[in-house]
Amino acid sequence: MRYQLIAFDAYGTLFDVYSIGTLAEKLFPGQGKALSLLWRDKQLEYTRLISLADPNPLGSQHYQSFWDLTIAALHFSCAQLKLDLSPENESALLKQYAQLDSFPESAAVLEKIKATGIKTCVLSNGNHQMLSWANQSSGLDQFLDRVISIEEAHQFKITPSSYQLVLNHYPIPKDQILFVSCNAWDIIGANWFGFDTYWVNRYQFPFEEIGKKPKYSGSNLNGILNYLDTSQSTPQ
Ligand code: LAC
Repeated sequence: MRYQLIAFDAYGTLFDVYSIGTLAEKLFPGQGKALSLLWRDKQLEYTRLISLADPNPLGSQHYQSFWDLTIAALHFSCAQLKLDLSPENESALLKQYAQLDSFPESAAVLEKIKATGIKTCVLSNGNHQMLSWANQSSGLDQFLDRVISIEEAHQFKITPSSYQLVLNHYPIPKDQILFVSCNAWDIIGANWFGFDTYWVNRYQFPFEEIGKKPKYSGSNLNGILNYLDTSQSTPQ
């Protein structure tokens, strides 16, 4: 199988969302890890509420941008953990979120894939504005052919209409697209939609107990390069 396109999730996959834990720990000693974990969980929970309550493929009437949900989730998490979120702390955390570190291998892997002639894109829950902040500050934008945001569908992953956006942008057979994510739930959604998947299992988690297992997995993005070689030299 020769893939024509590799589509990447952004947050957690190309960008390290837990890298804000270090700043959070500085601002709230002893609570940095708890805050970064709860913040991420709550942010994702809000996306699911919005899409579950109105899964209309034309968009959810409850849609709010991922950036707005990120702010709402930060407020909730601080309230739950009883942390006093001053305007200065809020602005420092959001500024860091807007300019997340990419993982050490993200740029090199994207560059190598691009050099093979295979196209690369992002499909993210993030809205275009926040994706553009992150892609520019990390320098990843130069290795991506396209950045697709679910903002175009007003439905979050894992709705079929979110994954469909990739096919709208690239009208090629589904089986010529490899979808890459660190989030097991995103792998399940992409598999159910019909993409081949590569799961970046950075934290040595077991895979979920429902859904189809990913076709490929590895502990970081570098592993994709091995599978590309194999997949290109062994037609199936
Ligand atoms: C993304 C988040 C959810 O879609 O990881 O980029």
